[in-house]
Amino acid sequence: MRNTYILGNWKMNHGPLEIQEFIESFEPQTTNAYVGIAPQFIHLPILLKSFPPKGINLGAQNCGAAVSGAHTGEVSAKNLKELGTDFVLIAHSERRALYKETNELFTEKIKQAIENNLKVIYCIGETLEQREADQMFDVLRAQLSVLKPFQHHQEDIVVAYEPVWAIGTGKTATPEQANEAHSYIRNELNESLGFNGNSTSILYGGSVKPANAKELLSQEHIDGALIGGASLKAEAFQAIISKVS
Ligand code: PGA
Repeated sequence: MRNTYILGNWKMNHGPLEIQEFIESFEPQTTNAYVGIAPQFIHLPILLKSFPPKGINLGAQNCGAAVSGAHTGEVSAKNLKELGTDFVLIAHSERRALYKETNELFTEKIKQAIENNLKVIYCIGETLEQREADQMFDVLRAQLSVLKPFQHHQEDIVVAYEPVWAIGTGKTATPEQANEAHSYIRNELNESLGFNGNSTSILYGGSVKPANAKELLSQEHIDGALIGGASLKAEAFQAIISKVS
């Protein structure tokens, strides 16, 4: 049995006022899914007071690759865990594209996360150019290869497939396109990476909203969603959680 995850990625959005609004309007719900939100680091302490009682786990959008020390501007996995953070996004396509983060760096970040008992949400996905040039599977395979050294920690790792062309664009992958990629990822986890892919959750991300969540979540290989824009408002986020059967 694979866990279902409904995760919000708030990116660089929401100040104290919007956070307060979200807290006040979010109604705790009964669900089998693991529900979580990754806000900006600065909001973790305040959200940790209100979110877990409402059934929402807290995550970080990134973590440092080093243990501690002279790394100005970085946030350590150890301190995130001490604060009460439960998961961390690693290798989001915005980290890959805008901040030029590399596979070597992801390996170090995953090590830090695992050593500090943070659940890793490892993000992968192809650009439109790569898809159109028939390179999608090669790109996914290369991105997934980062997980190989962590085959004995698979219970700490969730994969999020987020086609770059579907992120923040309103263009969602069709359920069939997403399921095809997820099925490839599961197979790759099984065949090349030494994982038991059948027990690894694979989330879809890219313009998930209340209107398309149910169909996406009902696909055989889709075990949850990583949601940007539609997670910013409590009503939309709740509506997506309610689609988990
Ligand atoms: P989106 O973002 O839902 O706004 O497309 C998803 C993500 O980047 O994780």
